[in-house]
Amino acid sequence: MEEQVLNTHNADLQLSAANRSHYPDDDLPEIALAGRSNVGKSSFINTLLGRKNLARTSGKPGKTQLLNFYNIDGKIRFVDVPGYGYAKVSKTERAKWGKMIEEYLVHRDNLEAVVSLVDLRHAPSKEDVQMYEFLKYYEIPTIIVATKADKIPRGKWNKHEAMIKKALNFDPADDFIIFSSETRVGYDAAWDSILGKL
Ligand code: GTP
Ligand code: MG
Repeated sequence: MEEQVLNTHNADLQLSAANRSHYPDDDLPEIALAGRSNVGKSSFINTLLGRKNLARTSGKPGKTQLLNFYNIDGKIRFVDVPGYGYAKVSKTERAKWGKMIEEYLVHRDNLEAVVSLVDLRHAPSKEDVQMYEFLKYYEIPTIIVATKADKIPRGKWNKHEAMIKKALNFDPADDFIIFSSETRVGYDAAWDSILGKL
């Protein structure tokens, strides 16, 4: 898709859903955002859409419990997926989460790609690695976004990128984007990558 045809500021929360009977019923392509709780998924959405608080962000992890479908200019959707790895979640809740994610990622025909967010500062968690393996296993086109880049000096970015790629067993066919919602570094690369999947 060409960037000029998409008014990225014309966006709103279309609906929230826990299961497929509530998903939007049309053919719009969807890009899902996955990642650990608190990694910056909602901030990523807000940054790409040039909005302060369209997608709710919080210092409190584990806030987003539903799939949130953001309609962008009536042409594509971002789907904000609840984060994983929040310690204070019961086994039952975790199982429910797993079912909800799997139902969406494995069975949603509209899904064109997943933006999988990791924290540039740290080695990926076990769940980050599992998520990436899951996406590769189901052959879902994946973009790795390593965010919070503003929190480490630029001179260390390469080293951290290499460390993350190694831990993920990163497929060089995928895009890897260093990003920050604070400085907006990676904004163009992220949009290019996303639109390239459509
Ligand atoms: P859940 O919805 O709980 O899964 O979290 P999330 O992944 O949506 O994270 P969210 O966007 O709410 O961000 C969590 C916290 O990290 C907030 O305090 C954000 O302000 C902060 N944050 C997100 N992205 C960045 C970034 O690029 N740089 C910095 N410095 N802080 C960030
Ligand atoms: Mg969120």
